[in-house]
Amino acid sequence: MFAAAELTGSKAEQYADLVDQARALLAGEPDRIANAANLSALAYHALPDVNWFGFYFFDGRELVVGPFQGKPACVRIALGRGVCGTAAQTAETQCVDDVEAFPGHIPCDAASRSEVVVPLFRKDQLIGVLDIDSPLPARFDADDVRGLEALAQVYVESLA
Ligand code: SME
Repeated sequence: MFAAAELTGSKAEQYADLVDQARALLAGEPDRIANAANLSALAYHALPDVNWFGFYFFDGRELVVGPFQGKPACVRIALGRGVCGTAAQTAETQCVDDVEAFPGHIPCDAASRSEVVVPLFRKDQLIGVLDIDSPLPARFDADDVRGLEALAQVYVESLA
């Protein structure tokens, strides 16, 4: 059984530990649903002040919600819409300090105040996005962005 270890040290060190734990958790399993589900559970319980952690997958036309932890979410998001659709369309991580100030933000959990969305690309193809919400404004800084991008990379590399 996989047991997540307590994270200690600086924020960068904690993310480095979490990335190692994620790599161990996904090792040897290429299934995109299984790995998205387990990575969501691992990170949601490890990261403080996070109320939603999960995946949207690109179905060739739009983003469709995948495995996540948190409250029920909107199912489909068009490319270019909201924080998720913007990350997918621009291929750039979005770090939003105040979701209410983001044009076109799609509220799912009314408690969310800040958000990071990392686009997921494999062999130059968009496969989806990793979305993380917090009930605190400006919860995410550059260390969080780097750490969450590293977690996203572990996920992409796990896929068959
Ligand atoms: N807020 C996102 C939608 C997804 S939920 O946060 C889970 C957005 O604006 O794209």
